Amino acid sequence: MERSFVMVKPDGVQRGLIGEIISRFEKKGLKLVAARFESLPDGRVQEQYREHLEKPFFPGLKSYITSGPVFLMVWEGKNVVPIVRLLVGATNPAEALPGTIRGDFAIDIGRNVIHASDSNESAAREIAIHFKNDDLVGYSAIAEPMIYE
Ligand code: TYD
Ligand code: MG
Repeated sequence: MERSFVMVKPDGVQRGLIGEIISRFEKKGLKLVAARFESLPDGRVQEQYREHLEKPFFPGLKSYITSGPVFLMVWEGKNVVPIVRLLVGATNPAEALPGTIRGDFAIDIGRNVIHASDSNESAAREIAIHFKNDDLVGYSAIAEPMIYE
């Protein structure tokens, strides 16, 4: 089954949005297989966002992501990566559609509440940055036979 790495950023944690976000993914039919709180060290923020290291917004992004605890998750399901990106919405909340997480809960690009992997390759890379294989829980969700044809 495909997996995606999702992170509720410090603003989302402090605004009490973890439950709302988990609830949206659960209701969609996705399966949570790992989760934990952590204050990320600079090194893992740099690995996580390696494609942005040289961008002018990177210093601000790093201080935002390290400003408080984040909530790290791994979600599983068919087509989970594009499905989660759709539920998350556009990077800039000013362009994110209502009904998406960023569209409903954010205003500024530099406080956009949530991260989600943009491809299966980055999902595998990002999961490996933050989780060990043993951290991923295997279980059969009773809803699965009703969700997948
Ligand atoms: P990016 O990977 O382009 O967006 P996404 O989170 O949708 O995959 O950028 C990573 C984060 O960097 C983004 O969530 C917010 C921040 N960012 C800025 O602060 N300013 C910018 O101009 C861009 C492109 C991103
Ligand atoms: Mg990205």
